[in-house]
Amino acid sequence: MIKLLSHLSHVRLATHDVEGTTRFYEDQVGVRTIHTDDEGAVYLRTWGDYYQYSLVLEHGDEPSLVSMAWRTTSAEALDEAARRIEAAGITGTWKDSSFGHGRSYTFTGPYGHTMELFWDVDKYQGEGELRSIYPDRPERRSRHAVAPRQLDHVTIAASDVVGFATWYRDVLGFRIMAHTVLEHANINVFSVLTTNEKSHDLGVVLDSSQRPGRVNHFAYWVDTREDLLQAADILMENGTPIEYGPSIHGIGEQNFLYFRDPSSMRVEVNTGGYRNYVPDWEPNTWTPSQGSNNFYRNSQMPMSMTECFPPDAKPSATEEGVLPGTEEDLLNPYNKHGLG
Ligand SMILES: [Fe+2]
Repeated sequence: MIKLLSHLSHVRLATHDVEGTTRFYEDQVGVRTIHTDDEGAVYLRTWGDYYQYSLVLEHGDEPSLVSMAWRTTSAEALDEAARRIEAAGITGTWKDSSFGHGRSYTFTGPYGHTMELFWDVDKYQGEGELRSIYPDRPERRSRHAVAPRQLDHVTIAASDVVGFATWYRDVLGFRIMAHTVLEHANINVFSVLTTNEKSHDLGVVLDSSQRPGRVNHFAYWVDTREDLLQAADILMENGTPIEYGPSIHGIGEQNFLYFRDPSSMRVEVNTGGYRNYVPDWEPNTWTPSQGSNNFYRNSQMPMSMTECFPPDAKPSATEEGVLPGTEEDLLNPYNKHGLG
């Protein structure tokens, strides 16, 4: 298969309060509004975004992932990706252009997640006081605290982790990089997929709810662990609780911290991690006791981390604190889930 996708370009989230959520991302996270469209959707960019934006906020009654957008490797790859998706029995829709990019193909995958693919894109170049002295930077480094450089990944939830990973590998060419399977039950609770050298730009956690198309979190990237620790410090100083971390994932070897936006959507900040260019990489299967999620294995992941969006109509087993697996899994002192 020719390489079809190059990287995650943006995520589009629904929030009940676009204005308040936008203010949070601007003030607490340090990303910047670049556009508001006729429907009131707000487009925000990090200082390192090569394109116009990486986050879109639109109004919705519940927090949710409206869509996740990947840039293809060429115009031909966009057509080929659409052809392969339709050959797999899914019909998407073409759109001539959207703010910041050209022709796109949007489809909803077998587990209910909407993905947008495009090739033509408007690159960003800051002018005036936004121009960087680094010619390769689209904009000067933000002086705001946290101020992530780029979007890193999105982690969705699906009722069948292996089924999801296999479909996106076979149809769109994602590489599967690692799995987490429970210690005492053959249940895959987490897998990571990538279109490039990172451990993942797409994660999938097990979803025991009845709602398709849910999301667990999306993640921004900062350059260094010091930046991440400072982000944690400043979030706390500003009254934004940290849900989990800072620590390091075994899978991907990335430093992490998680917090929530005002719609309750979970946001991760990442840094570090390996680069992997092996085209026929064989994914390892981790168990939670190996530190797949928290490599230091010295703290429990809060149960709140299993909450996905939009909320389940009925509380799922995991949200009530009962995880799949045996009693021994439940008593395991390490994290049972492999969230990353
Ligand atoms: Fe993550």
